[in-house]
Amino acid sequence: MLRLVRLLALLLVLLLGGTWAFAWVTRAPGESLGDAFAGRLALLFGGGQPGSPAAGGLQLPQGISLGGAFSLVDQTGRAVTERDYAGQWMLLYFGYTYCPDVCPTELGTMAAAIDALGPLGEKVLPVLVTIDPQRDTPAQLADYVSRFHPRMLGLTGTPEQVAEAARRYRVYFARVNRAEAAEYLMDHSSFVYLVGPDARVRSLFRPEAGPDDIAKVVRAQLTRAASAP
Ligand code: NI
Repeated sequence: MLRLVRLLALLLVLLLGGTWAFAWVTRAPGESLGDAFAGRLALLFGGGQPGSPAAGGLQLPQGISLGGAFSLVDQTGRAVTERDYAGQWMLLYFGYTYCPDVCPTELGTMAAAIDALGPLGEKVLPVLVTIDPQRDTPAQLADYVSRFHPRMLGLTGTPEQVAEAARRYRVYFARVNRAEAAEYLMDHSSFVYLVGPDARVRSLFRPEAGPDDIAKVVRAQLTRAASAP
């Protein structure tokens, strides 16, 4: 009985924590975190806004814009900005190569989603932006991303460039030092972003979204864009 109570309490904490993180990511400029949290909580418990969200992907609330300009360095050492990828759809993830579990899982999911799209998947570029530029040099990224997908792009930069890119996507990250180990960890939020040809986020996916969930939303977005006047 006690075990059940503990389990339920844990589930509630995870649910509220996830909603809090989502509210933090998607809140409007000027909207307080408390208001955003209340809004997303209402969404979660059925008071959803009409017309949203698409199955498997989270639609950004009205007036919220994520993504945009960045200035980074790719895995070949070349300085790049969002203009180098204008017109390109991306599945983008912020993580780091030393991540023990979550990042490899998410990057594997992203690669599988692109493969599941078949020929349409060739229009989508998988991208890892590191939040650990100190260790993730271009060479380190090049080796790492090639393990997940032959076309996967790895982006790094100065700590300032990385922080600025993360800010535009409302990505949380922080270094975690461990007394018992020489290598530090990075704590970070874990959303996969579908980025449109204008460098703006069209949809985002929670960590529990599978390759088929992501592929379905990407297919819908690309099809909608292709048929737009
Ligand atoms: Ni990670």
